[in-house]
Amino acid sequence: MTKILGIESSCDETGIAIYDSKTGLVADTLYSQIDLHRQYGGVVPELASRDHLRKIIPLIDECLHLANLTIKDIDAIAYTAGPGLNGALLVGATVANALAFANQIPTIPIHHLEGHLLSPILSHDKPEVPFIALLASGGHSQIMAVHKIGKYELLGDTLDDAAGEAFDKTAKMLGLPYPGGKYIAELATTGNEVYNLPRPMIHSKDLTMSFSGLKTAVLTLISNLTKQDIKIEGQVLADIAKSIEESITDVLVKKSLLAIEQTGIKQLVISGGVSANKTLRNKFDNLAKKHGFKVFYPPLKLCTDNGAMIALVGAYRFEHGITDYSFTVKPRWDLTSLEAI
Ligand code: KG4
Ligand code: ZN
Repeated sequence: MTKILGIESSCDETGIAIYDSKTGLVADTLYSQIDLHRQYGGVVPELASRDHLRKIIPLIDECLHLANLTIKDIDAIAYTAGPGLNGALLVGATVANALAFANQIPTIPIHHLEGHLLSPILSHDKPEVPFIALLASGGHSQIMAVHKIGKYELLGDTLDDAAGEAFDKTAKMLGLPYPGGKYIAELATTGNEVYNLPRPMIHSKDLTMSFSGLKTAVLTLISNLTKQDIKIEGQVLADIAKSIEESITDVLVKKSLLAIEQTGIKQLVISGGVSANKTLRNKFDNLAKKHGFKVFYPPLKLCTDNGAMIALVGAYRFEHGITDYSFTVKPRWDLTSLEAI
């Protein structure tokens, strides 16, 4: 029975968690910097690093307290080593390595996207390898074949914007706060798909995606409506939000389905911040019944960045003896370069 402390600090959330290899997630604490960055319309890297620095130790203390443990009960410390913002990653890496050194325990550098990919294991209904994974976050829209834990094959990627980025950028055009995905989703609940927005590359026979054309289409739509003296508010705003949500989710669903058809793998994992989207989940749930595959999601509160997914991967890697006393962060890191365990 091992206990792993997980530290996530790759972007604008400081996430801490303790994962027990036998009993699962013991405790987790999270601080989101979203309010700090909102006024700038996106994440300001230097402000992010400083805020991680302020919050990380109190959050570790709180997490240990919630778990009724002390640092002496921890067997290893897992931390996000990349990809992400250099300064933000360095805060987590430094704290992890300093704590580990002081307590004579190893550290385990973790790939942030592996955390997202495996986060559905934190749900009651757990996927088993092999599975297809749709990773839809603010920075990534990738379809992976997960052959083993650690052996990831990239099947499809976006040519330009990620799905979350498409939500966020179109939300910004509509005057919604950052990050806009959840605001579009909220508005869409009362909207109708009145506007027919493009679904780029939906008919291509490969798993490549593209979302940047959607921005142009939304910009043109806003400009046309404004010319007709139609205000972008109320029902019009809700209808645009619904049309955006339908367009993005249709592409994600179609490409994931194609991956299932092409590989014959009948288990699908949806992860990353966009996996919190209810319309996306409904579409996948319906198709899973129709096409006879099984779909898995992370628990809702663990869709966006958190320490639990890092502690979880840390526990897997620790069990396989993968620890590291070197001190490194990799702001750019190819997921398919990991070694199978
Ligand atoms: O995985 P994540 O927390 O951060 C990255 O690693 O990028 O994902 C954040 C992304 C943002 O683009 C955000 O707008 C999107 O996830 N998101 C959503 C929803 N909740 C968060 N997109 C659509 N619908 C949602 N309910
Ligand atoms: Zn993330």
